[in-house]
Parts: sequence; C-alpha cells; structure tokens
Amino acid sequence: MGDGHEFETDPDELPTAEVAPPQRFLDQANVTETGIRERFRAQWPDAWDEAGERLAWTSKYDSVYDEATRSWFPGGQLNAAANCLDRHLADRKHQRALVWDGQRGETRTYTYLELFREVNEFAAALREIGVGQGDVVTLHMPAIPELPIAMLACARIGAPHAVVYTGFSADALARRMDRSDSSYLVVSDGYYRRGDAVSLTNKAETVRATLSADVTTVVVDRFGESHEYATDVGKYNYRTLLDRNEGERVEPVDRASTDELFVIYTSGTTGTPKRVTHTTGGYLAHTAWTSHAVLDLEPGDTYFCTADLGWITGHSYVVYGPLALGATVLLREGEADQPPRTNVWELIEHHAVDIFYTSPTAIRAFMKWGPEYPEQYDLSSLRLLGTVGEPINPQSWQWLSEHVGNETCPIVDTWWQTETGGHLITTLPGVDRMKPGAVGPPLPGIDVTVVDEDGQSVDANTGGYLVVDTPWPGMPRELSEGVRWAAPDDARPDSEWAYRTGDGAFVDEDGYVTILGRVDDVLNVSGRRFGTRELESTAVTVDGVTEAAVVSGAYGDRGHGLYVYVSLEDGTQESERIRAEVTAAIEQTIGTFARPDAVIVSPELPKTSSGKIVRRLLTDIANGESLGDTSALRNPEVLGEIRSAVQQD
Ligand code: WTA
Repeated sequence: MGDGHEFETDPDELPTAEVAPPQRFLDQANVTETGIRERFRAQWPDAWDEAGERLAWTSKYDSVYDEATRSWFPGGQLNAAANCLDRHLADRKHQRALVWDGQRGETRTYTYLELFREVNEFAAALREIGVGQGDVVTLHMPAIPELPIAMLACARIGAPHAVVYTGFSADALARRMDRSDSSYLVVSDGYYRRGDAVSLTNKAETVRATLSADVTTVVVDRFGESHEYATDVGKYNYRTLLDRNEGERVEPVDRASTDELFVIYTSGTTGTPKRVTHTTGGYLAHTAWTSHAVLDLEPGDTYFCTADLGWITGHSYVVYGPLALGATVLLREGEADQPPRTNVWELIEHHAVDIFYTSPTAIRAFMKWGPEYPEQYDLSSLRLLGTVGEPINPQSWQWLSEHVGNETCPIVDTWWQTETGGHLITTLPGVDRMKPGAVGPPLPGIDVTVVDEDGQSVDANTGGYLVVDTPWPGMPRELSEGVRWAAPDDARPDSEWAYRTGDGAFVDEDGYVTILGRVDDVLNVSGRRFGTRELESTAVTVDGVTEAAVVSGAYGDRGHGLYVYVSLEDGTQESERIRAEVTAAIEQTIGTFARPDAVIVSPELPKTSSGKIVRRLLTDIANGESLGDTSALRNPEVLGEIRSAVQQD
C-alpha cells in the first residue's frame, strides 16, 4: 500500500451509544430473524437463494453461485424491465409507479400500467432507430421520467444503458461513449441546475462531432427546444418516436443472469474513469433483496431517495430495487440541499412518504437551515430513514432521528459503492441495534476484514484497509472475470479472492464497522467521487503549472470542498490566469460538477525528502488545522506561504 496510510479518528465522529430499533418498527419489519447471519454463514452461498426468489425468472437458475466461473444464478434467464413492470400489472396496474416533482414545480404521475406502456413504446422506438441486443445506449438527462423510462426500455430489449451524469462535460461524455463503443445517445435538450437553465443540445453536437462513429441521437423535451434540434439525419425527437409507436408492445428479451444490465463509470485510481458493468440477475436480486431487508420496502410503499440517477444510488435504489418490489417511487429533479428549503419536507407530507433515503451532505445542509423547516410539516408517515455516500457523524444522525424521524424511525447507514452494486455493510433495521457513527455489521452472507499494509488482519478498534472476502450477488462482471481492482502491492495470493474497497475502517468488538474514508487515490467530497489523478493530470495541462495535488477539505454548506494546489514554473507570476485556467481545464475535461472550490497557487508543494507530495499537510491546511511534525519535509518553508494563499482565497 505504498507509503501506508495514517488512520486518524476524530473523537467527535466516533460511534456513540447503541440505539434499539423502535418497537413500532419491529412489529412490522420485513426481516426480524435474529439468527439470519448465522444461517447465511452455514448455508452460504445457497442462502442467497432468497434474493434470487424475489425475482421472476423465465428460466430458473441451475444454482445460486458457481465458484468456478464466479457467477451468480448461472443458467437463469430473466428480463429486468419485466421484473420492474410486467409482473406488477396483475396486482397493481393502477398503483402509481412514479411520481415526478420537477424543478419548475411541475408534477407528473405514471401508474404501473402507464409506465409499462411508455417503456414498451420507447423500446419499440429504440428498435426502430436500430438499437439491437448488446448495443450500449448512452443516456444523458436530469431526473425526469424519461430517464428511468429509457433505462427500462433498454433493459427490455437487452441493450445495456450507460447513464452519464449531466454535470459531465462534452469531452467526458464523448470519452465514455467511445470507451463503450456506444453510438446511441438519448439526451434532453437541457436541464436546470440550481435554478439556471443549462442547454444540452450544444453538448450533443460536440459529442457528435468528436466521435468517429455516427451517433444516433434522441432528444427529450425539457425546455421545449427538442423539436428544433431533431431535424437532421440521425436525430430524433422522443415524442415523435413515441407517437409513431403508440400502443406498441415489445416482448421482454430473455437475458442470461450474467448478461450486462448496464455500465456505469466512476472515478478510479488511475487517470481515466473506471468502467463498472452490472449484471442482470445478480445485480437485480441484490438490489431487490436489500430494498426489502435493509430499506424495509414493501409493495405499495411510497419511497423517496434524493440521489441523482446519474450515480449508482439512483440506479439501484431509485429505479431497479424499488420498482422490482412494486413501490411508488418519488423522483425529484435537483439536489436535496438546494432551496426551497421546505421542498423535501413538503413532498414527504404531501405524498405520505414511508421511506426516505438521503445523504449526509444533504443532512448537513438541512441542519444548517434549521429544524424549523421540517417542523412545519407532518412527517409522521415516515417509517425508516437511510443514508449513503459518506460517513454520517453521530450529531447528524441524532438530528435526523429527532427532527425528521420523530425518534420513531430506525436509521440505516448503508455502506456500499458503485462497484458493489448494492448495500454490503449496514444494520438490518428489524434485527440490529444501531450505533450512530458506525455503519453496522456486514450484511448476511458478506464477510469483511480490516487489514494492515501486509494484508494481515488487525485487532478490533484498529484502523486499516477494508477488504470484502466473500463474493456477493451484486458484484460487477469485472470481478467475476478476475479483474482484481486491488492495490498493486496487495499481499494476497492471486488465487485468493478478495475485493479491496479503497476505504479505511475499523471494526469494534461487536463486529460493527466504522468507515474512516478513502485511503486510495479516490476522494470523497460531499458524497461525490473524484479521482485525484484524473484531476491532477488535467490541472498540469495548464501552461505554467508544474505539479498539482488535489485534496478534500472543509468548505461551505456542503461541508467539504475540492482544493486544487498547483505549483508554478519558475518565473510564472500570473496566479489569477492560472487559477482561472485550471478551473476551466477541469470544467472542460471533466465537467462543471468537478469545479474546484479553491485553486491554491504556490511556488512549490510540500514534499518528503524522497520527493513525494505530502497531501495530508495540504488537507490539514485546507481544514485550518495545526500541522504537527513537519521535520521530515524537504521544504517546510513552503507551508507558511501555502497557508496564507489558502486564507486569501
Ligand atoms: C463512501 C456510493 C461511509 C465510501 C453508493 C465508498 C460511505 C464510496 C458510505 C463509494 C457510508 C458510501 N459511510 N462512507 N454509509 N457509503 N461511502 O461509488 O468511501 O459513489 O468507498 O457509491 O462512498 O462511492 P460511490
């Protein structure tokens, strides 16, 4: 693990006393079996059959897990869209499947039957424009109903989708399409970002011009400009396509369990994005089972998750898990920590939301705004709260429990990643006591270890690298295919399967895991993932910049910000120009969502005698903390300059 990581713990962030789940919740919980972990251990992997059984299969799998091929539910055939729609028609065709709340105050509602119809029509339209089984369709839209509809239409015809978050630039979108050989793009004419209208048609044009292959484009109306855009060859208007395919029905295509359902890109440890491929059977079983057991979702529940569909949480716990179970999904356009401050609470009251799943970043904003906002609303419909994306400290946990959950809702702090597809470490709300600040024990069927640099497991309450030792149904194809995604100097033999998560953690004497944050070259800034190498290699493309180091530090309402430190070539004086150009380069190569909160220019970056940049000190400076021992630095004198540059920023 290179230099090794210092596992620091802040006493304010450590887990506090245990909290028992409320009796009112236990009386109705989906999973209350206290011995469930022991049972999964004794019957692994067959116990995972209960995840497979949550789905409708057109051919039942031969076994739950095949060790030789590392595949889940081998031999099984199914279709994800049929699982999310068709099988619910018998019992809930007039139940709302999707309720959309738009940024302009619009509302649109789809029953299961209506969603089924539009997905069928769009599936027929995709076929009409040439999309076949296995073709990757790129989707680039905000959280509007057409996005889940397009995802499910792709799933219906066996075309893997690749959703690219709207905050990515044209360059980043084109690179991702190129990596997947995707020549189909479904894009909206624009979207609203914090109230401002952002056009996407220019981006679509740039992408078409950049890629060597012809790109067939479908434009969805968000602004009312799609008709003007879709006039040329290879460009279609979503509405026109639907009208032409009105009433069409498309047989769901049988997919093997291990066939890809979608690809998703995330920030990894190299200079380029990491491509993650999720499977049809294992992934869907995992998300459906965890939606049932962890989110306690029942058919007919109204469920609200604030994640954007461009990231994995939106895939697993806005679309696939909840719809596979027959829930009513509330889809909100825009970020939760964005005004109006009453909106989230108003939606919960108005739609009588049962389950609310959000992020610590959003909770920090809610806390800052104050309890008077949730207190104006009747939130008594809520039964369970969940968080994901970054550690939640005990104070935020308490605030959520008191001001949103009225102390009658359990909170599940769910640890997982883009790579895991679904939850891996969390309490089971009907089984486990909660420890605010700790995510909880691994789920049934999952084993984790915390190891030191040499791969040896460490003692209880000692920080180390978090490793998952057992395969899980939602694991991506890359891990089945033997891609290790582990640290290069991972001490384990190749034959031993293990997944290095990139997170630091410790486990207490009760087996509860506390996450200490990323320990690889990935940064988690307010729940968003960034690759330091990707950002740094972009920053050094700016004329005059010699080196760059990117860290996450305290910043603004969201709690964390992205700090880019750059050193300049001798004689370069134009700090202002450099700062503007570094920001512009990052916006152009990656996207507006990666815009640095601060670009700090200094003559040199702090280095060890062997020439390694000491990012820890740069983080301390960003956080305004004292620096401790700096005697091992080759150039300790730069720290003062950097600190004053940060203070001026
Ligand atoms: C972090 C998001 C603490 C972690 C689903 C992980 C968490 C990264 C938690 C994955 C949690 C996620 N507590 N940290 N409950 N959940 N993380 O791929 O560092 O966007 O490695 O997936 O988020 O981020 P990703």
